[in-house]
Amino acid sequence: MGSKKLSGKVALVTGSSRGIGRAIAERLSRDGAAVAVNYISNASGAEETAAEIKAAGGDAIALQADVSKLEDIQRLFDQTIEHYGRLDILVNNAGIRISKNVADINEAEYDRLFAINVKGTFFACQQAARRLFDDGRIINISSAVTRMVLAAYSIYAASKGAVDQITRVLAKELGGRHITVNAVAPGPVDTELFRDGKSDEQIQLMAQMAALGRVGEVQDIADAVAFLASDDARWITGQCIHVNGGFT
Ligand SMILES: NC(=O)c1ccc[n+]([C@@H]2O[C@H](COP(=O)([O-])OP(=O)(O)OC[C@H]3O[C@@H](n4cnc5c(N)ncnc54)[C@H](OP(=O)(O)O)[C@@H]3O)[C@@H](O)[C@H]2O)c1
Repeated sequence: MGSKKLSGKVALVTGSSRGIGRAIAERLSRDGAAVAVNYISNASGAEETAAEIKAAGGDAIALQADVSKLEDIQRLFDQTIEHYGRLDILVNNAGIRISKNVADINEAEYDRLFAINVKGTFFACQQAARRLFDDGRIINISSAVTRMVLAAYSIYAASKGAVDQITRVLAKELGGRHITVNAVAPGPVDTELFRDGKSDEQIQLMAQMAALGRVGEVQDIADAVAFLASDDARWITGQCIHVNGGFT
């Protein structure tokens, strides 16, 4: 255990009851970190993630919190630090996607998407800025759509653009404490969020848009996050790293 890259570290992964977040939680645990597994409503998914981590010899706790609410974010950090006594790695992964043409988006959809994707990331970063241990890591999950121009992705792309900007500025603010702040921008990854509203044909077409000829798997993203969380990535900060198999 002692020789693992993240031994002695504590990680908080928002939205890790399923999908990419779950793979990140499991991967950070395999590297030796204790992990707080956050969810909003899927308690069984979060408990299952924590149980699998423990069964594999790791340490994890499942914690409910809605990242669109500041009070919940504060409680999430309080509970993580009360339980483990420290926090070294924050992964802002919780996010939703709404893909509709501009003409069809209503105010409630706009507010909900920005509340989770931007406000949630921002205030979790604020808690991390105040409470992360020196030499810590913040990794924000962005998206390939910040570089591509896709119809129906206006508010989603805008929210992830905001995540990239928060990342760059925070890297400057926290560099003095050797805390690195980076974003990982996945291309299409096979999860519920990705499959929602797409036909098998559309998914095949998207797979062909990647140089490597397939849609991403959750482990492809988790491995990149684990690298950024490790000491090997100590000189990388303020970056948005696109992890997408050459998807353009
Ligand atoms: N999949 C892709 O193709 C893709 C591509 C680029 C970027 N991304 C980004 O990657 C991240 C994860 O995506 P995914 O595909 O893994 O999504 P997913 O399968 O839909 O999982 C979403 C996760 O976020 C949690 N969550 C949602 N709203 C929350 C809230 N308000 N507070 C706390 N947790 C909340 C969910 O919890 P519950 O289980 O409790 O609902 C779940 O654990 C997102 O930021 C997404 O934008 C995904």
